[in-house]
Parts: sequence; C-alpha cells; structure tokens
Amino acid sequence: MKVDVLTVLPEMFPGPLNASILGRAQAAGLLTVNIVNLRDFTHDRHRTTDDYPYGGGQGMVMKPEPVFEALDALLPPQGPPPGTRVILTSPQGETFTQSRAWELSRAERLVLICGRYEGVDERVRHRVTDEISIGDYVLTGGELAALVILDAVARLIPGVLGSGTSPLEESFSCDGLLEGPQYTRPPEYRGLAVPEVLLSGDHARIRQWRRRQALARTLERRPDLLERARLGPEDRRYLEGLRAKGGGPGEG
Ligand code: ADE
Repeated sequence: MKVDVLTVLPEMFPGPLNASILGRAQAAGLLTVNIVNLRDFTHDRHRTTDDYPYGGGQGMVMKPEPVFEALDALLPPQGPPPGTRVILTSPQGETFTQSRAWELSRAERLVLICGRYEGVDERVRHRVTDEISIGDYVLTGGELAALVILDAVARLIPGVLGSGTSPLEESFSCDGLLEGPQYTRPPEYRGLAVPEVLLSGDHARIRQWRRRQALARTLERRPDLLERARLGPEDRRYLEGLRAKGGGPGEG
C-alpha cells in the first residue's frame, strides 16, 4: 500500500513510522509512506499555510491552495482513481472503527490530509473522499489522527504482522468480544498468582475459561458489543447466568 501524508508538521512522523511493525512493513516493501510538507506548496516568503477566517472569529483556518496544489502533484487531474482514498482527518468526520480500518486496508493508496483543529477551508472538502475522526475529543492537529489511522490500517495489510499472526476479519477482537486476561511467566509475582487453569495443560478447559472470561469482560465493560458479537448457545447460557448473578467475571 502507498500512503501520502499531507502535513504542516512533517517532523511528527519519522519516530512512529520507523519503529517496530510499521518500520518493518516499509523495509519489506509492504508499505510506502511519503510525507509531504504542505509548506513546499506555498509561494510566499513565510511559507504561510493558514489565514484568518472570513467573517471573523477565533483561530486560524488552513488555506486551500497548498492542499489543492499538493493533491495536484500527487493525483491525476481527473481525480483519485478507484482504489485511492483521499482522507481528511477532522473531529467532524465519521468516527474511525475497526471495520473502517479493514475497509481502508483494501485500498491501493491512501492520501491523508492532516487538518488543523481550528479548521480547514471548506473548499478542501471538494477534493476528499472520506473525512475521519478518531474519537470525540479535540487534538491540536490531525497528525496524530493520521498516525492512528495509518497504524490500524497497516497492520491489516497481508504480511505486515508476519506469518504467525493473522488479525481476524469479523470484528475488532475475537468474535466481537473484548479479550480476556492474559498472563506470562512467572506463575506467581508479588503474591499475584496466574489462574490455575492456564497452567493445567488441559486445552479444552483453557479454551472454555478464556471464552468465559472474554464474555464476562465484555458484559462488564462494553455490553453494547454483545448485541453484534458472534455468540453460540453455550455463550448465551453463560451470559444469562452472569446477568442473573449481577455480571462480574468469575474465575471458574
Ligand atoms: N483533529 C483534531 N481532532 C481530531 C480528531 N479527534 N480526529 C481526527 N482529527 C482530528
């Protein structure tokens, strides 16, 4: 996948992009990221990318010309070809979800325009295919949102997580449930023991315990997810039992 990022803060990207999995994905040629400095598409001495809002008001507005000119340099004049998504990050966008990440992971090319939080000249929206918010809070700019989107999408590209791990397509975790508790060595630490079942070597019991922990955790923390989760009759019976008891995750 090819990703272009249009930003006034290119220095925010090398650290997160070169570390760990995203760094390896680029080294392996699975992901190509092109950071575009919008100031390179200005024509004044101060390389101005924002200006005062027409009609008055607080804050500055991102000028349309650098964004339009950067897009002209990247994309054909007739607009983005199929398989290319031009995404504006903004708190007014559609909320980003795992299913959006899956959908975007199938694109050939993403162009991410990092908006600034006070606003972007409305005409920029004529050039975008998607407007995405990463949540109901306000960041100082769209750069961190672009990195979040890029990270969530890149890990879904086949091969990026390596052959041992494959993210499941159905949901944002297993069957639309939150994951249950995980442990590693040592078996006891500062008086806190790993549940005995995980040390038992009894794989059927371990599978059932994990499923029940996931159900209990989801019921406790994100009951809204249970409406869309893939549940079997045994799951439903277990949840009924928990609801009858008042909901907390049990050990057994
Ligand atoms: N820019 C500022 N806040 C944002 C958010 N929550 N999501 C995407 N872009 C943003």
